Amino acid sequence: MNAIILFDSHSSGGATDRIIDTIGQELAKRDIYVEKGKVLPNADYSFLDEFDLILLGSPIYNLRLSENLAGAIIQSNLLAKLDGKQIALFVICGGPELSADLLYLPQLQIPLLNKNIIAKKAFGMSCKNDPESAVSFAEEIYEKAAK
Ligand SMILES: Cc1cc2nc3c(=O)[nH]c(=O)nc-3n(C[C@H](O)[C@H](O)[C@H](O)COP(=O)(O)O)c2cc1C
Repeated sequence: MNAIILFDSHSSGGATDRIIDTIGQELAKRDIYVEKGKVLPNADYSFLDEFDLILLGSPIYNLRLSENLAGAIIQSNLLAKLDGKQIALFVICGGPELSADLLYLPQLQIPLLNKNIIAKKAFGMSCKNDPESAVSFAEEIYEKAAK
């Protein structure tokens, strides 16, 4: 199985990098080939044809997904290329998980309502710096993914 983590972040070496590295390592331990790449608003996402499992996420800035991820959803062929894929969604934020579940994750879930979302997670203030939370999310994705 091939997976790709498509993400955005304004920083390097922050929570996003740590979380996606942990998720990638955990999936790789389970014999999943994992790549990662940053989302751009006007990219051609035809390369997703090569992947079975797509992980998609970004930090929250000023109550919203990063502009690159939000832009890709609106402007590019990203949504079309997610058809038939297994998808895991995540957001990373500084606030509590409850508000992230209500305010932030839906910004990803709603545009992807007709897609096959197998797992989703908000990494908020109580878990974004706990490596175990990323390990658990990777385990959940692995268990739910059709191999
Ligand atoms: C300019 C800016 C705006 C932010 N706005 C929000 C916000 O509206 N809600 C929230 O929960 N967290 C907010 N955050 C917190 C970030 O989502 C959080 O720090 C996240 O870990 C950043 O990703 P990084 O650690 O990979 O840099 C904001 C952070 C920055 C720098």
